[in-house]
Amino acid sequence: MSSQFKTVTIAGGTGLLGYNIAEAFLNDGSYDVKIFRRKPKTENEKANLLASKGAEIVYVDYDQKDDLVKALKGTDVVVSVISDSTGNLFESQVPLLIAAKEASVKRFIPSEFGGEFKVGVHPIPDGKIKFEEEVIKSGLEYTIIFNGLFQEFLSWIGFDVKNKKATFYADGNKRLHTTSLADVGRYTVETLKMPEARNSFIKVAGVTMSLNEYLQKFEEISGSKWEVVVDEEVKYRYKNKIDPIPSPEENFKATLVQNDQFKDLDNDKFSFTPRPVM
Ligand SMILES: NC(=O)c1ccc[n+]([C@@H]2O[C@H](COP(=O)([O-])OP(=O)(O)OC[C@H]3O[C@@H](n4cnc5c(N)ncnc54)[C@H](OP(=O)(O)O)[C@@H]3O)[C@@H](O)[C@H]2O)c1
Repeated sequence: MSSQFKTVTIAGGTGLLGYNIAEAFLNDGSYDVKIFRRKPKTENEKANLLASKGAEIVYVDYDQKDDLVKALKGTDVVVSVISDSTGNLFESQVPLLIAAKEASVKRFIPSEFGGEFKVGVHPIPDGKIKFEEEVIKSGLEYTIIFNGLFQEFLSWIGFDVKNKKATFYADGNKRLHTTSLADVGRYTVETLKMPEARNSFIKVAGVTMSLNEYLQKFEEISGSKWEVVVDEEVKYRYKNKIDPIPSPEENFKATLVQNDQFKDLDNDKFSFTPRPVM
């Protein structure tokens, strides 16, 4: 299957996920790959690596529309992998969308790459959803990719390998989609060759297992039993300021584990089998 697109611009392409997506496009070999980084130009090891593999690193000012439009001329597909420290992925992506439209970009892939949430569960997914609605309204072709949690984030979400301790923010039977960063990159590249991905929500997962099943894997690998703490009240304590008051980060983790709701996966539309969890 070949792609109708030639030039792909990855905004935030030296970030954690962005680098993996950029590598996947470069490995595919059929695209001219541009990486947007914010001005001013600074030394960046990942940028150097991607440039050595053939990517063009372009420094832009997202607040200068003309600059952005000029830099986007000739781009067929924008992949936004922006993530800013405020977590507001509406404000930070709007200038890119406006410029993409003006530069006649054909397809826009917004910075989603997580789980699927209802509006109102947390400001971070809310910002993403609001922006996705903007992308759909823009008239550009779009693909919105859900991949669950990055497998590389399992320790962050509660599987503490060093201390052999698991914190469950939901019942142990709660199922969690996880995908490796490299596979999110490969899925993203393949969407450009799939007619079904045009103007679609694409849902993929490397594995879908319950918290208990992830724990079992960790115990098998470490060769020992783990301590398990079940804490399903984090969001309630956070909202009502009840001791011990969880941190905003803990509240976010609990949101991710408890509220992700996507079900029907599109894995079978892709040509490869994703990496197993570990
Ligand atoms: N599913 C999961 O488990 C999971 C986990 C983490 C992240 N994510 C999602 O994956 C996406 C990417 O996250 P990430 O962790 O890979 O991001 P990241 O490593 O923080 O990198 C994002 C890049 O965005 C650029 N950037 C930062 N602030 C910006 C701004 N205000 N305007 C424009 N560009 C800006 C930076 O590039 P320059 O400095 O080079 O410009 C940065 O390298 C996000 O949608 C995030 O929510 C999902």
